[in-house]
Formats: sequence, structure tokens, C-alpha cells
Amino acid sequence: MVAARITVNGKETPISPAAPHTTVLDFLRERGLTGTKEGCAEGECGACSVLVARPGVHRPTDWVAVNACLVPVAALDGQEVVTSEGLATVDASGTPAVLHPVQEEMAVRGGSQCGYCTPGFICSMASEYYRPDRCAHAGPADGSGDSDGTNGTNGTNGTNGTNGTNGSDGSEHGPNGFDLHALSGNLCRCTGYRPIRDAAFAVGMPAEDDPLARRREQSAPPPVATRYTQDDSAFLRPGTLADAVRLLRERPEAVVVAGSTDWGVEVNIRSRRAGCVVAVDRLPELRTLHTGSDHIEIGAAQTLTEIERRLDGAVPLLAELFPQFASRLIRNSATLGGNLGTGSPIGDSPPVLLALEATLVLADADGEREVPLSDYFTGYRQSVRRPGELIRAVRVPLPLSPVTAFHKIAKRRFDDISSVAVAFALDIEDGTVRKARIGLGGVAATPVRALATEAALEGRPWTAQTAEAAARVLRTEGTPMDDHRASAGYRSAMLGQSLLKLYARTTEAVSS
Ligand code: FES
Ligand code: FES
Repeated sequence: MVAARITVNGKETPISPAAPHTTVLDFLRERGLTGTKEGCAEGECGACSVLVARPGVHRPTDWVAVNACLVPVAALDGQEVVTSEGLATVDASGTPAVLHPVQEEMAVRGGSQCGYCTPGFICSMASEYYRPDRCAHAGPADGSGDSDGTNGTNGTNGTNGTNGTNGSDGSEHGPNGFDLHALSGNLCRCTGYRPIRDAAFAVGMPAEDDPLARRREQSAPPPVATRYTQDDSAFLRPGTLADAVRLLRERPEAVVVAGSTDWGVEVNIRSRRAGCVVAVDRLPELRTLHTGSDHIEIGAAQTLTEIERRLDGAVPLLAELFPQFASRLIRNSATLGGNLGTGSPIGDSPPVLLALEATLVLADADGEREVPLSDYFTGYRQSVRRPGELIRAVRVPLPLSPVTAFHKIAKRRFDDISSVAVAFALDIEDGTVRKARIGLGGVAATPVRALATEAALEGRPWTAQTAEAAARVLRTEGTPMDDHRASAGYRSAMLGQSLLKLYARTTEAVSS
């Protein structure tokens, strides 16, 4: 097997002697690329954002921004990374000679004060700058027009958007098609977000000869089977599902990672170390996404961004979930398999997938089995998944229920952990609720279905009286606790309010 190597800003470099748990952030900084900063080391500030070349959704390659503090550098064996230092054009001596258009706009519009957050913002912004379908929302090709924030068209109407910024019409796209959600994982403590938003809304389209734009036309680096070991620890990336399940049978104690958005926090904040980490995020068998006659199958290692862009609204309840799931930086790495694999009672995807009546395809060395998600969780962070078993895919049955909603109650609109989350999927025919599926998070040791409320709705007319009676039942579901995020009483109250809100929305839609 070839020694593990990574290409950073166009230069290939060996990963050794970094330890298997070394993050991309530490690896870069130890090699003098100190533009990449550590703010939180747990995926919440974006100071560590870098660009990685990944297989594209609409072109051969996308430049995807990820949190370098969470990803082990061994996970990028054979891959290409660009840091903020690699975006500017350099002269023969290696000195930056021409700023990247994103850097230029941040500089001239006052988007940086202390500068600590700036390289991270620059990389997240550059990822959005190179998003191929950004032009679908764009105005003038040079990014001119209303983008300078001086004529009242850029976020002056007081509706909070990403980090407090938004477009004037309540959308979060600028006149250049720039989606401010690209920056939802980047925090700035001193500049204020308006100049940063102004810079984002001012960038134009990449020039024909832009090297990173041209790079998108060639294939992304393929995944590399990696065996990176040092002393008594190892980072292993099997090449196929068969290799992975065989390995997990031999090493059932191994920590399985996809985007490392959960494990990276354990490593950094709790100093956890594993003797063996097995990466499954590039296994082809976990990267499928197809629609059959009776279900949609989503590979467990598709990132949330990939699912969002590939489904393109085909599952409205998932489309409602994605913008509320952490930040774009996290969604660029996080997977449904990971969110379900951790078994957290406050994961954002389980309530939605419970309402959709999803099933999980579990695979091990003996084959596959399909388990309804409603039977999957058995206790706090516990499930029916056996040692050595992987989540290969999530299946969403068709047809979908037409009335759906996901209500996440959290202290911040974006990039926060829910206090309570509720997902609804209802079939309402001729004014009667024929079927109701309701998934709850944050009210028990596991995500749960609101079975009593479902029964209180099914077969009844969809009226205010039914909604109010069912809301009273919904307030009693689960066993919510008091903790630092919310009291038990608040959580119960929010459950009931969620159903009343859904009723109000559906009747507004009918009367308008
Ligand atoms: Fe804060 Fe990585 S250091 S997200
Ligand atoms: Fe200081 Fe953003 S410029 S934190």
C-alpha cells in the first residue's frame, strides 16, 4: 500500500509522522499554514474551514468547505485541500500577488477586523463562490447591481437570517445567487455580519481561467484504501463494503466514522483516542441514492448537502430539515448514517425519518437486514445494531404523505441543538385525517413516535377541535426532562403548540 499523502495548495506531502488521530487543522498549522485557525475545536465557529475537492453534484468536482478541526488528516489520504493561503495567486517567490475575488471583496468592504475568523469565512465563501448552480439565482454576471448594500435592498427589513443577515425579500440569496447559509457555520465576534454579507453579495462569477473553477471540470480524487498505523493506533479506510464488514468482524471494538463530526468532538474536547478507527464515508455501496417504485433509498454515507442537492425538494420533509441541521460546514461532512449511528435522542434526523416511516438497511459479514426505524432505538444511545454491523442505507417509503412539517425548537434559528423537535406527516382526504405519523426528539431517552397523538388524529375531521384535543394528548407524550436547554414543562408546551401551528398553517393555505 502506498504511503498516505495529501495535496495541500497544489503540493503533495506525506501525512506521516502525524498520529492517526491528528486533525487536518493541527496538521496544517504544524506545517506553517496558520491561516487555518482553531476557535472552538468542535465544529461550531468555522475558523478552521478549508476546501476539499469532492465528487460534484452537478460537475465532476465540487470545492466543499469542511471543518478541519473535526476531520483526521488520515481521512484525506490521496485528497486535495486548499486553505486560505492557497486561494491568492502567488508570484515566483511564493508571495501572494493577487487576492482571490472573495478575499478582495472582504478586504474592500471591511469584512475583517481582528482577522481571526476571516480565513474560515474566506474558505466557506469560496466554496459558495464555486458552487456550480449558484448562477441559477444570480443577477448580473459581474455581481454588480444591488450588491453594495447601499440602496436598501440588502437585508434592511429586520428579518433575521443566517447570523443575523438576509436578503431584503426574506430570502437568504444575494443578487449574485450567493446563499448565506454557506456561512451559517462561521462566527465573527468583532466585525459584525453586515460587511461580511455585503462582501458575499458582491462577489461575481469565477473567470474562465480561474484555476479552481477549471479544476471542477476534472474528476475529484477517488477514495484511497488507507492503512495508516502508528504504535498501537490505526486509521483504516477499507475499499469496499465487503472489506469493511470483514474488518469490523475482526475488530468489533473499532470506532466507525463517516464525516467525523461527532467523533472529532470526542477526540478534541474529551481527549478520547481509539485503537482503531474505520472510515466508511467513501464506500461506494453507502454512496447510492435512487428512487424505486415504492421507496427512495439514500446511502448512509451521502452527506446531508449531497442528499439535499440530489433530492432537490423531492422529499419536502427532508428539505425542511436540512437548513435546520447544524451548519452548511457540518452538513458538508455529516451523514444520515452517522446521525442515526450515534443514537442521540436529540439528533435532528430521527424525528423526520420516524414521521416518514423510514427503514434502515443494516449490513454485516453475513448479509443485510431491514429494520423499521421505529424499532431501531432501544435505549439512551443504544440500538438493535449489532457489533460489526453498519447502517448501509435509509429507505423512505413512497408515496409520501402530503401534509408535512418539521418544527425544531432551539435557542438559535441555525447551528444549534434542539430543545425539542417534532416532525409531522399526515394524509388528509376529504377533510379527514386518514393517517398520522409524528416523530419526536428531545422528550425521551430515544427519539419516539407520538403514538397516542397519532391515534387521536386518525379517522377524525381535520378541524380546530380535533387539533386542540390532539395537542392536549401530544403534550403528554414522552418523558421530557428539565435541563440547561429547557424545562420539562416548556418541552411539553412546545409539543402541543407544534400541532396547533401545523393546523393553523394548513388552514391558512386552504383559505388563501
Ligand atoms: Fe471552530 Fe473548527 S475550530 S469549527
Ligand atoms: Fe475578529 Fe471576526 S474579525 S472575530
